[in-house]
Amino acid sequence: MTKNWKTKLIHSDAKIPEGYRSLATPTFRGSTTLFPSAAGVNDTWDQHRVGYTYGLYGTPTVLELAARVCELESGTHTILAPGGQSAISLINLALLQSGDHMLLPASAYYPNRKLATRLLTRFGVATDFYDPCIGPDVASLIQENTRLIWCESPGSITMEVQDLPAIVDAAHRRNVRVVLDNTWSAGVLLDAFAHGVDVTMQALTKYIGGHSDLLLGSVTVRDDALYQRLGAAQQVLGCAVSPDDCGLALRGLKTLAVRLSAIESSALAIAKWLSTRPEIERVLHPALESCPGHEFWKRDFLGSSGVFSIVFKPGPTQQQVYAFVDALDLFEVGYSWGGVTSLAVAYNIGHHPGRPPYDHRIVRLNIGLEATSDLIADLEQALKQLL
Ligand SMILES: Cc1ncc(COP(=O)(O)O)c(C=O)c1O
Repeated sequence: MTKNWKTKLIHSDAKIPEGYRSLATPTFRGSTTLFPSAAGVNDTWDQHRVGYTYGLYGTPTVLELAARVCELESGTHTILAPGGQSAISLINLALLQSGDHMLLPASAYYPNRKLATRLLTRFGVATDFYDPCIGPDVASLIQENTRLIWCESPGSITMEVQDLPAIVDAAHRRNVRVVLDNTWSAGVLLDAFAHGVDVTMQALTKYIGGHSDLLLGSVTVRDDALYQRLGAAQQVLGCAVSPDDCGLALRGLKTLAVRLSAIESSALAIAKWLSTRPEIERVLHPALESCPGHEFWKRDFLGSSGVFSIVFKPGPTQQQVYAFVDALDLFEVGYSWGGVTSLAVAYNIGHHPGRPPYDHRIVRLNIGLEATSDLIADLEQALKQLL
Protein backbone atom coordinates (compact mmCIF):
# COMPACT_ATOMS: atom_id res chain seq x y z
CA MET A 1 0.00 0.00 0.00
CA THR A 2 1.29 3.47 -0.87
CA LYS A 3 1.22 5.59 2.25
CA ASN A 4 0.66 9.29 2.67
CA TRP A 5 3.41 10.89 4.81
CA LYS A 6 0.87 11.46 7.58
CA THR A 7 0.14 7.73 7.67
CA LYS A 8 3.90 7.02 7.67
CA LEU A 9 4.16 9.02 10.90
CA ILE A 10 2.00 6.37 12.54
CA HIS A 11 2.70 3.22 10.46
CA SER A 12 6.33 3.38 9.32
CA ASP A 13 8.21 0.90 7.12
CA ALA A 14 11.62 2.26 8.21
CA LYS A 15 14.15 -0.47 9.12
CA ILE A 16 16.84 -0.66 11.80
CA PRO A 17 19.34 -3.49 12.43
CA GLU A 18 18.08 -6.33 14.61
CA GLY A 19 19.89 -8.19 17.38
CA TYR A 20 20.80 -5.31 19.74
CA ARG A 21 21.80 -6.40 23.22
CA SER A 22 22.91 -4.29 26.15
CA LEU A 23 23.17 -4.56 29.90
CA ALA A 24 20.39 -2.04 30.48
CA THR A 25 16.82 -3.28 30.84
CA PRO A 26 14.73 -1.66 28.11
CA THR A 27 11.89 0.50 29.34
CA PHE A 28 8.67 -0.59 27.64
CA ARG A 29 6.00 2.10 27.96
CA GLY A 30 2.47 1.44 26.84
CA SER A 31 -1.18 1.72 27.63
CA THR A 32 -2.51 -0.07 24.52
CA THR A 33 -1.15 -3.58 24.19
CA LEU A 34 -1.63 -5.15 20.76
CA PHE A 35 -3.57 -8.37 20.24
CA PRO A 36 -2.87 -10.67 17.30
CA SER A 37 -6.52 -10.83 16.20
CA ALA A 38 -10.05 -9.66 16.97
CA ALA A 39 -10.85 -12.92 18.70
CA GLY A 40 -7.71 -12.62 20.86
CA VAL A 41 -8.90 -9.47 22.67
CA ASN A 42 -8.92 -10.16 26.41
CA ASP A 43 -9.04 -8.03 29.57
CA THR A 44 -7.58 -10.57 32.00
CA TRP A 45 -5.18 -8.96 34.49
CA ASP A 46 -2.92 -11.98 35.00
CA GLN A 47 -0.32 -11.41 32.29
CA HIS A 48 1.60 -14.52 33.36
CA ARG A 49 -1.41 -16.64 32.46
CA VAL A 50 -2.76 -14.99 29.30
CA GLY A 51 0.12 -12.86 27.96
CA TYR A 52 0.09 -9.09 27.73
CA THR A 53 -3.36 -7.49 27.54
CA TYR A 54 -3.22 -3.92 28.89
CA GLY A 55 -0.65 -1.45 30.21
CA LEU A 56 -2.43 -1.26 33.57
CA TYR A 57 -1.37 -4.83 34.35
CA GLY A 58 2.23 -4.21 33.38
CA THR A 59 4.59 -3.95 30.44
CA PRO A 60 7.66 -6.25 30.38
CA THR A 61 9.62 -3.64 32.38
CA VAL A 62 7.01 -3.65 35.13
CA LEU A 63 6.72 -7.43 35.20
CA GLU A 64 10.49 -7.78 35.26
CA LEU A 65 10.79 -5.59 38.35
CA ALA A 66 7.93 -7.51 39.99
CA ALA A 67 9.63 -10.83 39.18
CA ARG A 68 12.98 -9.59 40.50
CA VAL A 69 11.46 -8.41 43.81
CA CYS A 70 9.60 -11.71 44.06
CA GLU A 71 12.82 -13.67 43.54
CA LEU A 72 14.65 -11.64 46.22
CA GLU A 73 11.82 -12.09 48.73
CA SER A 74 11.42 -15.80 47.87
CA GLY A 75 7.74 -15.35 47.07
CA THR A 76 5.77 -16.85 44.21
CA HIS A 77 3.90 -13.74 43.00
CA THR A 78 4.56 -10.00 43.27
CA ILE A 79 2.23 -7.20 42.26
CA LEU A 80 3.54 -3.66 41.99
CA ALA A 81 1.72 -0.53 43.11
CA PRO A 82 2.43 3.15 42.44
CA GLY A 83 3.93 3.66 45.92
CA GLY A 84 4.40 1.97 49.27
CA GLN A 85 1.20 3.49 50.62
CA SER A 86 -0.77 2.29 47.61
CA ALA A 87 0.65 -1.21 48.19
CA ILE A 88 -0.74 -0.97 51.75
CA SER A 89 -4.15 0.17 50.44
CA LEU A 90 -4.19 -2.56 47.81
CA ILE A 91 -3.62 -5.24 50.46
CA ASN A 92 -6.35 -3.94 52.73
CA LEU A 93 -8.90 -3.37 49.97
CA ALA A 94 -8.17 -6.77 48.43
CA LEU A 95 -8.22 -8.84 51.60
CA LEU A 96 -10.80 -7.15 53.83
CA GLN A 97 -14.53 -6.65 53.60
CA SER A 98 -17.31 -5.03 55.57
CA GLY A 99 -17.63 -6.62 59.02
CA ASP A 100 -13.95 -7.59 59.19
CA HIS A 101 -11.50 -6.58 61.88
CA MET A 102 -7.74 -6.09 61.66
CA LEU A 103 -4.90 -5.41 64.05
CA LEU A 104 -2.27 -2.77 63.37
CA PRO A 105 0.81 -2.12 65.48
CA ALA A 106 0.70 1.26 67.23
CA SER A 107 4.09 1.91 65.59
CA ALA A 108 2.74 1.48 62.03
CA TYR A 109 3.60 3.95 59.29
CA TYR A 110 1.14 6.76 60.01
CA PRO A 111 -0.72 6.78 56.65
CA ASN A 112 -1.39 3.05 57.12
CA ARG A 113 -3.09 3.99 60.40
CA LYS A 114 -4.98 6.85 58.72
CA LEU A 115 -6.25 4.54 56.00
CA ALA A 116 -7.71 2.34 58.73
CA THR A 117 -9.23 5.06 60.89
CA ARG A 118 -10.43 7.48 58.21
CA LEU A 119 -11.34 5.34 55.20
CA LEU A 120 -11.73 1.65 56.04
CA THR A 121 -14.10 2.51 58.89
CA ARG A 122 -16.44 4.02 56.25
CA PHE A 123 -16.54 0.60 54.60
CA GLY A 124 -17.30 -1.29 57.80
CA VAL A 125 -13.78 -2.50 58.59
CA ALA A 126 -12.74 -2.09 62.24
CA THR A 127 -9.15 -1.76 63.44
CA ASP A 128 -7.54 -2.11 66.83
CA PHE A 129 -4.02 -0.97 67.53
CA TYR A 130 -1.64 -3.15 69.48
CA ASP A 131 1.64 -2.66 71.29
CA PRO A 132 4.32 -3.68 68.76
CA CYS A 133 6.19 -5.44 71.61
CA ILE A 134 3.18 -7.59 72.50
CA GLY A 135 4.58 -10.84 71.04
CA PRO A 136 2.43 -13.96 71.65
CA ASP A 137 -0.10 -11.97 73.71
CA VAL A 138 -1.50 -10.65 70.46
CA ALA A 139 -3.63 -13.82 70.68
CA SER A 140 -5.82 -12.07 73.27
CA LEU A 141 -6.70 -9.32 70.76
CA ILE A 142 -7.86 -11.66 68.00
CA GLN A 143 -11.61 -11.59 67.51
CA GLU A 144 -13.94 -13.91 65.60
CA ASN A 145 -13.90 -11.49 62.66
CA THR A 146 -10.16 -10.66 62.70
CA ARG A 147 -8.79 -11.31 59.23
CA LEU A 148 -5.40 -9.56 59.17
CA ILE A 149 -2.63 -8.76 61.61
CA TRP A 150 -0.25 -6.17 60.26
CA CYS A 151 3.36 -6.10 61.40
CA GLU A 152 5.97 -3.48 60.69
CA SER A 153 9.37 -4.40 61.97
CA PRO A 154 11.05 -2.21 63.01
CA GLY A 155 8.15 0.20 63.49
CA SER A 156 8.12 3.70 62.03
CA ILE A 157 9.90 6.34 64.15
CA THR A 158 9.89 4.37 67.44
CA MET A 159 11.70 1.41 65.81
CA GLU A 160 10.36 -1.51 67.88
CA VAL A 161 11.47 -4.85 66.40
CA GLN A 162 8.62 -7.36 66.56
CA ASP A 163 8.59 -11.02 67.56
CA LEU A 164 7.29 -12.11 64.18
CA PRO A 165 7.22 -15.90 64.69
CA ALA A 166 5.22 -15.47 67.92
CA ILE A 167 2.69 -13.19 66.21
CA VAL A 168 2.47 -15.49 63.18
CA ASP A 169 1.90 -18.49 65.44
CA ALA A 170 -0.91 -16.76 67.36
CA ALA A 171 -2.48 -15.58 64.09
CA HIS A 172 -2.32 -18.88 62.26
CA ARG A 173 -3.87 -20.76 65.18
CA ARG A 174 -6.96 -18.60 64.56
CA ASN A 175 -6.74 -18.67 60.76
CA VAL A 176 -5.71 -15.03 60.60
CA ARG A 177 -3.24 -13.84 57.96
CA VAL A 178 -0.13 -11.82 58.78
CA VAL A 179 1.06 -8.95 56.60
CA LEU A 180 4.51 -7.44 57.04
CA ASP A 181 5.74 -4.02 55.97
CA ASN A 182 9.28 -5.18 55.17
CA THR A 183 10.57 -1.87 53.81
CA TRP A 184 13.31 -1.31 56.40
CA SER A 185 15.00 -4.60 55.47
CA ALA A 186 14.73 -3.79 51.74
CA GLY A 187 13.14 -7.23 51.47
CA VAL A 188 16.58 -8.84 51.79
CA LEU A 189 17.71 -8.42 55.39
CA LEU A 190 14.67 -10.28 56.74
CA ASP A 191 13.29 -13.41 55.07
CA ALA A 192 9.63 -12.74 55.80
CA PHE A 193 8.23 -15.97 54.39
CA ALA A 194 10.74 -18.08 56.34
CA HIS A 195 9.23 -16.44 59.44
CA GLY A 196 5.73 -17.48 58.42
CA VAL A 197 4.39 -14.16 57.12
CA ASP A 198 1.61 -14.50 54.49
CA VAL A 199 1.96 -11.19 52.66
CA THR A 200 4.94 -8.85 52.49
CA MET A 201 4.98 -5.35 51.16
CA GLN A 202 7.73 -2.86 50.58
CA ALA A 203 7.96 0.77 49.63
CA LEU A 204 10.40 0.25 46.74
CA THR A 205 10.62 4.04 46.94
CA LYS A 206 13.23 3.54 49.66
CA TYR A 207 16.17 1.15 49.26
CA ILE A 208 15.30 -0.54 45.95
CA GLY A 209 14.90 2.79 44.16
CA GLY A 210 17.70 4.08 46.33
CA HIS A 211 18.06 7.56 44.86
CA SER A 212 15.00 9.49 46.11
CA ASP A 213 13.63 9.90 42.60
CA LEU A 214 10.71 7.49 42.32
CA LEU A 215 7.67 6.13 44.14
CA LEU A 216 6.79 2.43 43.88
CA GLY A 217 5.47 -0.32 46.11
CA SER A 218 5.36 -4.11 46.00
CA VAL A 219 3.11 -6.80 47.43
CA THR A 220 4.48 -10.34 47.52
CA VAL A 221 2.74 -13.60 48.41
CA ARG A 222 3.28 -17.34 48.21
CA ASP A 223 -0.36 -18.30 48.06
CA ASP A 224 -2.16 -18.40 44.73
CA ALA A 225 -5.58 -17.56 46.22
CA LEU A 226 -4.14 -14.38 47.77
CA TYR A 227 -2.50 -13.49 44.45
CA GLN A 228 -5.86 -13.83 42.67
CA ARG A 229 -7.54 -11.48 45.14
CA LEU A 230 -4.73 -8.95 44.96
CA GLY A 231 -4.55 -9.04 41.16
CA ALA A 232 -8.31 -8.63 40.78
CA ALA A 233 -8.23 -5.65 43.18
CA GLN A 234 -5.22 -4.10 41.40
CA GLN A 235 -7.25 -4.17 38.19
CA VAL A 236 -10.38 -2.49 39.49
CA LEU A 237 -8.48 0.02 41.63
CA GLY A 238 -6.46 0.93 38.55
CA CYS A 239 -3.16 0.71 40.44
CA ALA A 240 -0.96 1.39 37.40
CA VAL A 241 2.78 1.86 37.83
CA SER A 242 5.13 3.84 35.65
CA PRO A 243 7.46 1.68 33.51
CA ASP A 244 10.00 4.52 33.66
CA ASP A 245 10.04 4.30 37.45
CA CYS A 246 10.35 0.52 37.21
CA GLY A 247 13.34 0.98 34.88
CA LEU A 248 14.98 3.20 37.52
CA ALA A 249 14.18 0.68 40.26
CA LEU A 250 15.71 -2.13 38.16
CA ARG A 251 18.86 -0.03 37.92
CA GLY A 252 18.70 0.61 41.67
CA LEU A 253 18.60 -3.15 42.32
CA LYS A 254 22.00 -3.64 40.72
CA THR A 255 23.73 -1.54 43.38
CA LEU A 256 21.51 -2.46 46.33
CA ALA A 257 24.07 -4.79 47.94
CA VAL A 258 26.90 -2.25 48.00
CA ARG A 259 24.64 0.63 49.02
CA LEU A 260 23.10 -1.37 51.85
CA SER A 261 26.44 -2.58 53.10
CA ALA A 262 27.99 0.92 53.12
CA ILE A 263 24.86 2.39 54.72
CA GLU A 264 24.76 -0.37 57.35
CA SER A 265 28.30 0.20 58.57
CA SER A 266 28.02 3.98 58.51
CA ALA A 267 24.65 3.98 60.33
CA LEU A 268 25.98 1.60 62.97
CA ALA A 269 29.10 3.69 63.57
CA ILE A 270 26.99 6.83 63.89
CA ALA A 271 24.43 5.13 66.15
CA LYS A 272 27.22 3.87 68.43
CA TRP A 273 28.80 7.32 68.56
CA LEU A 274 25.44 8.91 69.37
CA SER A 275 24.89 6.45 72.23
CA THR A 276 28.02 7.84 73.93
CA ARG A 277 26.67 11.40 73.88
CA PRO A 278 25.45 12.90 77.16
CA GLU A 279 22.51 14.67 75.44
CA ILE A 280 20.99 11.37 74.32
CA GLU A 281 18.77 9.12 76.41
CA ARG A 282 18.39 6.31 73.92
CA VAL A 283 19.42 5.34 70.41
CA LEU A 284 16.68 3.36 68.71
CA HIS A 285 18.77 1.35 66.26
CA PRO A 286 17.68 -2.31 66.00
CA ALA A 287 21.29 -3.56 66.12
CA LEU A 288 21.85 -1.87 69.50
CA GLU A 289 20.60 -3.26 72.81
CA SER A 290 18.95 0.08 73.55
CA CYS A 291 16.32 -0.63 70.86
CA PRO A 292 13.15 -2.45 72.00
CA GLY A 293 13.11 -5.90 70.41
CA HIS A 294 16.86 -5.90 69.70
CA GLU A 295 16.90 -9.63 70.59
CA PHE A 296 14.43 -10.33 67.76
CA TRP A 297 16.56 -8.33 65.32
CA LYS A 298 19.54 -10.44 66.38
CA ARG A 299 17.59 -13.66 65.97
CA ASP A 300 15.74 -12.92 62.72
CA PHE A 301 17.55 -10.32 60.62
CA LEU A 302 20.62 -10.72 58.41
CA GLY A 303 21.78 -7.15 58.94
CA SER A 304 20.59 -3.60 59.46
CA SER A 305 19.85 -0.68 57.19
CA GLY A 306 20.27 3.03 57.69
CA VAL A 307 17.18 4.42 59.41
CA PHE A 308 17.09 4.83 63.16
CA SER A 309 15.95 7.33 65.78
CA ILE A 310 17.49 9.16 68.69
CA VAL A 311 15.70 10.26 71.83
CA PHE A 312 17.08 13.22 73.75
CA LYS A 313 17.14 13.26 77.54
CA PRO A 314 14.29 15.37 79.00
CA GLY A 315 15.18 19.04 78.94
CA PRO A 316 15.30 20.47 75.42
CA THR A 317 12.20 22.26 74.21
CA GLN A 318 10.56 21.46 70.88
CA GLN A 319 12.19 24.63 69.52
CA GLN A 320 15.62 23.39 70.60
CA VAL A 321 15.06 20.06 68.88
CA TYR A 322 14.04 21.91 65.71
CA ALA A 323 17.15 24.08 66.10
CA PHE A 324 19.29 20.90 66.30
CA VAL A 325 17.78 19.60 63.04
CA ASP A 326 18.07 22.98 61.33
CA ALA A 327 21.71 23.32 62.42
CA LEU A 328 22.62 20.14 60.57
CA ASP A 329 24.48 21.02 57.43
CA LEU A 330 24.77 17.65 55.63
CA PHE A 331 21.50 16.10 56.85
CA GLU A 332 18.62 17.49 54.82
CA VAL A 333 15.10 17.74 56.23
CA GLY A 334 12.59 15.64 54.31
CA TYR A 335 10.37 12.57 54.19
CA SER A 336 11.19 9.29 52.57
CA TRP A 337 14.40 7.50 53.23
CA GLY A 338 16.68 4.88 51.71
CA GLY A 339 18.40 7.28 49.33
CA VAL A 340 22.03 8.39 49.23
CA THR A 341 21.45 11.64 51.14
CA SER A 342 21.30 11.72 54.92
CA LEU A 343 18.05 13.10 56.33
CA ALA A 344 16.76 14.17 59.74
CA VAL A 345 13.15 14.68 60.80
CA ALA A 346 11.97 15.73 64.27
CA TYR A 347 8.71 14.20 65.48
CA ASN A 348 6.40 14.92 68.36
CA ILE A 349 4.80 11.59 69.15
CA GLY A 350 3.17 12.85 72.32
CA HIS A 351 2.80 10.70 75.40
CA HIS A 352 -0.01 8.22 74.91
CA PRO A 353 -0.91 5.34 77.26
CA GLY A 354 1.08 2.24 76.30
CA ARG A 355 3.40 4.18 74.00
CA PRO A 356 6.92 5.37 74.81
CA PRO A 357 6.89 8.82 76.46
CA TYR A 358 9.26 10.41 73.95
CA ASP A 359 7.05 13.47 73.24
CA HIS A 360 8.98 15.95 71.07
CA ARG A 361 12.37 14.49 72.00
CA ILE A 362 12.66 12.07 69.08
CA VAL A 363 14.48 12.63 65.79
CA ARG A 364 14.65 10.08 62.99
CA LEU A 365 17.83 9.88 60.95
CA ASN A 366 18.34 8.36 57.53
CA ILE A 367 22.00 7.67 56.89
CA GLY A 368 23.12 8.12 53.31
CA LEU A 369 26.43 7.61 51.55
CA GLU A 370 28.36 10.65 52.77
CA ALA A 371 31.61 9.99 54.69
CA THR A 372 30.76 8.75 58.17
CA SER A 373 33.26 11.07 59.84
CA ASP A 374 31.66 14.11 58.18
CA LEU A 375 28.19 13.03 59.34
CA ILE A 376 29.45 12.59 62.90
CA ALA A 377 31.13 16.01 62.82
CA ASP A 378 27.88 17.50 61.55
CA LEU A 379 25.85 15.89 64.36
CA GLU A 380 28.43 17.01 66.92
CA GLN A 381 28.23 20.66 65.94
CA ALA A 382 24.40 20.58 65.79
CA LEU A 383 24.13 19.04 69.28
CA LYS A 384 25.41 22.37 70.65
CA GLN A 385 21.88 23.71 69.97
CA LEU A 386 20.68 21.70 72.96
CA LEU A 387 22.93 23.49 75.46
C1 LIG B 1 7.65 1.85 56.58
C2 LIG B 1 7.03 2.55 55.41
N1 LIG B 1 6.09 1.91 54.71
C3 LIG B 1 5.48 2.48 53.66
C4 LIG B 1 5.81 3.74 53.25
C5 LIG B 1 5.08 4.38 52.11
O1 LIG B 1 5.87 4.43 50.97
P1 LIG B 1 5.62 5.51 49.82
O2 LIG B 1 6.24 6.77 50.29
O3 LIG B 1 6.29 4.89 48.64
O4 LIG B 1 4.13 5.61 49.63
C6 LIG B 1 6.79 4.45 53.95
C7 LIG B 1 7.17 5.83 53.53
O5 LIG B 1 7.84 6.56 54.20
C8 LIG B 1 7.41 3.84 55.06
O6 LIG B 1 8.34 4.50 55.79
